[in-house]
Amino acid sequence: MSNKTRNPISHAARQEDTDEALSNYRHSQEKSKVEYATMVKVFYELITDFYEFGWGESFHFAPSKDSQSFEEAITNHQYFLGNAMNLRPGLNVLDVGCGVGGPQRSIARKFGATITGLNISEYQLKKCAEYNAEADLDELCRVLLGDFMAIPAEDQSFDAAYHFEAIAHAPDKKRVYAEIFRVLKPSAIFAGYDWCTTPSFDAENPVHRDLKERIEFGNALPQIASFSDVDEGLRSAGFELIETGDRALDSDPATPWYHPLGTSGRSLRSFARSTLGRKVTSLTLRVLELLRVVPRGATQTQGVLNIAADSLLAAGRLGIFTPMYYHKARKPA
Ligand SMILES: C[S@@+](CC[C@H](N)C(=O)[O-])C[C@H]1O[C@@H](n2cnc3c(N)ncnc32)[C@H](O)[C@@H]1O
Repeated sequence: MSNKTRNPISHAARQEDTDEALSNYRHSQEKSKVEYATMVKVFYELITDFYEFGWGESFHFAPSKDSQSFEEAITNHQYFLGNAMNLRPGLNVLDVGCGVGGPQRSIARKFGATITGLNISEYQLKKCAEYNAEADLDELCRVLLGDFMAIPAEDQSFDAAYHFEAIAHAPDKKRVYAEIFRVLKPSAIFAGYDWCTTPSFDAENPVHRDLKERIEFGNALPQIASFSDVDEGLRSAGFELIETGDRALDSDPATPWYHPLGTSGRSLRSFARSTLGRKVTSLTLRVLELLRVVPRGATQTQGVLNIAADSLLAAGRLGIFTPMYYHKARKPA
């Protein structure tokens, strides 16, 4: 993973119409089943540079261990999926919802497979292609603009497919799984990590319900699924389930998966994603907005991200949510 730290203030607030984009985002959230595409595109235009600043080029969580740095934990989580698919040179692999390509580059570098990154966000995909070229990986790492609800690829064109926390954005998981099934060759593996409520989630509990809604709002998600929604969805698309489990449980007790959201770290990046760091960024943005150095709306964007982080932290502490429900499935021969 690159160590580049990008300035969220100059980049994230780059649009003159951030205010208008935020209002579009809220509107599309209300109609997320039908307007999921607008919601996701606007959301990632607004927050991608903040994410890069606070998190790096891989936009997912990882089980954390006392003995590992944040970056090591993220990379190990990526290699786990690469190993689960038995990736190797010569294989043609689909990365579903590739972000700016952190996992794609890391997996291509380690396993030598050719990976096509599919993304609905033009803003992210452009960055992904630039970073692939900068890393001299553009032979192995390709990009494909499109919606995972209707993947722009021929039937049976990939040897494997994976996703890192992307299908949480789908208004209909079964449709995405059916699309992935269609573009995979017989016997191919599809593996991924999804955002799910855990069996401890109680839909009758107002605190649980409120946290779930806040996570959905702060992360542009139509509905957070349960483990059985994922399992049943995969089976109904035709996949054979090989392995499932909550990989959040692989974290050390002292460093649960949500640990990076709540503590203050030593590096600029870990400070940026900590509770205190988020407050400092909000205040800085507010001052810069008043001085008209950044457009109006930048503070509100940071506010949406703070809702996301605080609700994830609270739901993680209650054990009612995981961002890494692991599923490995095979298309029958
Ligand atoms: C949480 S980010 C994860 C990105 C990447 N997998 C990573 O770990 O760095 C979710 C990604 O899914 C993409 N996405 C969401 N809805 C999509 C859709 N309908 N079609 C394709 N990509 C989509 C977003 O644009 C974003 O890049």
